[in-house]
Amino acid sequence: MKHRDYGCRDDARRGGPLSPDVTRSTTFEKGSAEEVRAVGVGEAPGEFYPRHGSPNCRGLESRVAELEGADGAVCFSSGMAALHAIVFSHCRSGDRIAASRDVYGGMTAMLQVDAPRFGIDVRPFDPFDPRSLASAVEGGLRLLHVETPTNPLCRVVDLPAVAAAARKAGAILSVDATFCPPPFQRPLAFGADLVMHSLTKFLGGHSDALGGIVSGRHELLEPLAAFRRRTGGILGPDTAWLVHRSLGTLELRVTAASQTASRLAAFLDDVRRRGGPVRAVHHPSLPGHPDHDVARRQMKVFGAVLCFEVAGGLDAAKGVYDRFRRIRRAVSLGGIETLASLPVHTSHAHSGPEERARSGISDGLIRVSVGLEPPEELQADLTGALEA
Ligand SMILES: Cc1ncc(COP(=O)(O)O)c(C=O)c1O
Repeated sequence: MKHRDYGCRDDARRGGPLSPDVTRSTTFEKGSAEEVRAVGVGEAPGEFYPRHGSPNCRGLESRVAELEGADGAVCFSSGMAALHAIVFSHCRSGDRIAASRDVYGGMTAMLQVDAPRFGIDVRPFDPFDPRSLASAVEGGLRLLHVETPTNPLCRVVDLPAVAAAARKAGAILSVDATFCPPPFQRPLAFGADLVMHSLTKFLGGHSDALGGIVSGRHELLEPLAAFRRRTGGILGPDTAWLVHRSLGTLELRVTAASQTASRLAAFLDDVRRRGGPVRAVHHPSLPGHPDHDVARRQMKVFGAVLCFEVAGGLDAAKGVYDRFRRIRRAVSLGGIETLASLPVHTSHAHSGPEERARSGISDGLIRVSVGLEPPEELQADLTGALEA
């Protein structure tokens, strides 16, 4: 059997040091011409060249594949490099992609700017409107791409419904599941073919590592690993080691942060109900959230990101934001510190007012990625910032 460049689920529990060494060497000496040839073409096991795959990347990939219930996983130097590889290893000129309108801005830009330059036709659709989904898949597709939960409103896409549409259209379904990692959300179990994560967020978990990963079945991963070999977007060994180490606390971190997020969402919703300066709260734990039931079916936690709208628009939201003492004013999410950002200034800064209105992104929104601080301290911070 040919040896794979990427890590497989079955390797995850292989013996060896509990904390693996970092292998930084970029070449590996062999004993004979025949050995160099055989390892190089994958006929014999062994390290060859780290752009093809490395021990630290395979260790991380095996563990993520195990968490996702996938055959294997392929890691990349960033979440965007992983999304880029999904699109350009599986699609060619003349192919059609249907992509949810609610995806990460970098993905939208790549689909608007780069995919058409290579003759790929992209159809945006609304994953929460069955008619929009039906018309996006009409006539067949190569790839259907969604993100769930979405940023920043934490909408949860009904994966079995999009998986059925993808199957009917003959498309691969890829899911960006960055906002809720495994084992809490496992899109492959709901019909996805590929699941992607920005490792930079919950899987890395400490705001100190940039990376991306895609998990799925071997027949869909092999083109991704070959594309990675050709184009060079693999993760470095030190970063792979850091993220792999962080996976040891993934479940504890995400469980605690999600519980705190649910508590803060309930608190903010209470402020709203009492007529306080909060106009809306978006978190799937709230019974009034449009996807509360879908989230209960698809996710084991409601997620550590929430979003709320301050009454009074952008100026009022900036006032609240600038008064935070414990919550950090920073972009990104999924780390151990609680971070807040104003979507109108960050993720949706490049969307026009009309597009923002269509997506429900109001000027007064504040997104909070909840970390591991004591919940009462975060609640006190929100109280102080809202009261002033
Ligand atoms: C949902 C989602 N997908 C993909 C990405 C891109 O990941 P990276 O920044 O690691 O390239 C991000 C980054 O914020 C994201 O939030």
